[in-house]
Amino acid sequence: MEKQIIGYIVGAFDLFHIGHVNILKNARKMCDYLIVGLSTDEWVKKYKNKTTAIPFNQRKEVLMACKFVDSIVPQEDFDDFKMWERLKFDIMFVGDDWKESERFKGLEEKFNKIRIKIIYLPYTKGISTTEIKKKIAERGLEEKNEE
Ligand code: CTP
Repeated sequence: MEKQIIGYIVGAFDLFHIGHVNILKNARKMCDYLIVGLSTDEWVKKYKNKTTAIPFNQRKEVLMACKFVDSIVPQEDFDDFKMWERLKFDIMFVGDDWKESERFKGLEEKFNKIRIKIIYLPYTKGISTTEIKKKIAERGLEEKNEE
């Protein structure tokens, strides 16, 4: 039997949107089993300085209902190497908005040594959790002005 390729991707996946669907679909095409490191509410607050709109357990349920996701683990820090020690994935996927970032440059060096690939997938332009929140806030204002 051929070895299964295990993929790993991290994120908050808050207000699940088409950018999330696209990256998960693309990642799953390149592996046999996709694990999502789902940022906890506390970790999102720390690294994005944002409060999640949807709490962790619900974001997890939404992701579990997505056919491109095989399993989910909580992500509580940026220590992806520690996660590799635990999960032994073969490829880590991330949106190409992270390419050239200090975080991924450092990680590439570490992963190169143990032949773990980082694959940058195309970021879907024009949509993000931040964008959705902004639009809702703007529309809320419009509706108020119409009253
Ligand atoms: N992603 C993507 N295309 C988008 C938005 C996100 O490919 N339009 C990817 C990111 O590169 C990341 C993963 O989806 O690998 C999870 O991203 P996340 O930070 O949860 O979503 P964002 O919408 O970018 O959230 P925010 O606006 O809070 O930064």
